[in-house]
Amino acid sequence: MARILVTGGAGYIGSHTVVELMQQGYEVLIVDNLSNSNIDVLDGIEQIVGRRPEFLNVDCCDYVQMDSVFIQHPDIVGVIHFAASKAVGESVQEPLKYYRNNILSLVTLLSLMNEHKVPNIVFSSSCTVYGQPDKEHLPVDETAPLKKALSPYGNTKKINEDIIFDQAHACPQLHATILRYFNPIGAHPSALIGELPNGVPNNLLPFVTQTAAGLRSELKIFGNDYNTPDGSCIRDYIYVVDLAKAHVKAIDRMLNVKDREQVEVFNLGTGRGLSVLEIVNTFMKVTGVNLPYTIVGRREGDIEQVWAEPHKANTVLGWKAETPVEEVLLSAWNWEKKLRNIN
Ligand code: UFG
Repeated sequence: MARILVTGGAGYIGSHTVVELMQQGYEVLIVDNLSNSNIDVLDGIEQIVGRRPEFLNVDCCDYVQMDSVFIQHPDIVGVIHFAASKAVGESVQEPLKYYRNNILSLVTLLSLMNEHKVPNIVFSSSCTVYGQPDKEHLPVDETAPLKKALSPYGNTKKINEDIIFDQAHACPQLHATILRYFNPIGAHPSALIGELPNGVPNNLLPFVTQTAAGLRSELKIFGNDYNTPDGSCIRDYIYVVDLAKAHVKAIDRMLNVKDREQVEVFNLGTGRGLSVLEIVNTFMKVTGVNLPYTIVGRREGDIEQVWAEPHKANTVLGWKAETPVEEVLLSAWNWEKKLRNIN
């Protein structure tokens, strides 16, 4: 069976994708330097799948070590590149860390893929490349204009997309699938793997579940004076397991479909926008847990509203986000309860 190299495979989206790949019969090799993940995730993957993925503690920016990864695994047919730093706020404070990690790792990978004749890469991009789409571009599809990034993190996603297009132009044998994620949330239904935020969470869902678990006194909702129906920001929250399945579809397509473009871009979202208040209220309804919150001022750099037009992924990739948000929020809560030993 074909082997897929998954960089950042011990991370949040990476680990869920490894599970789906293995369940579809792919051999997986995880390369991860554990800078924002935990080795214990391999136990969770093994319990879910019944097999342990191969794992190497290697930094993707390390050319020499990555070279030996490819030398030792001549059966790699494709790469899914998750490994990246992803904290928006930190990227503003430490831009060089983001430019170094996120750009050097892709450049290293693409050089080695060229050298070792590995033709396929799936790249984790983000809806951040659209910025705040103009009204006529909502829901946003893949043809919407890209906007200047609001953070160094967002800029690395944009630059990496450009690097992939340029390298594909120079190397006709390279094929790439760029996946633009909207807001991934939730955890595996087994509650054996899930999100493990470092320190105080920046993202909404981990903050919600930690507050519900009593680790934080209250959730702060950043702004209720936006031009949206209830005044809070709107996002397209997508279940991480649905998102993971899209990666398997992308790999299947790259390996089996001849008639496709050399670089393909897909939005991965549900097509439905939900406000922060809708998420909070639905969370309380499905879990029965009271969530203390206050409304505070806007967070700098936040986009007012964005949600996906996922038609291209639905039709070309044959993938659809199908899990109801109620189930997704429950999965996030079950994972938090498991982490904190709450019954
Ligand atoms: N929010 C709160 N309180 C919190 C945390 C978040 O009200 O404690 C709100 C935010 O203001 C926003 C919404 O919840 O309206 C979602 O915020 P997240 O931080 O979860 O997600 P973002 O949409 O801001 O960020 C995501 C990804 C980034 C990416 C960005 C691009 O996490 O990687 O989308 O749009 F850069």
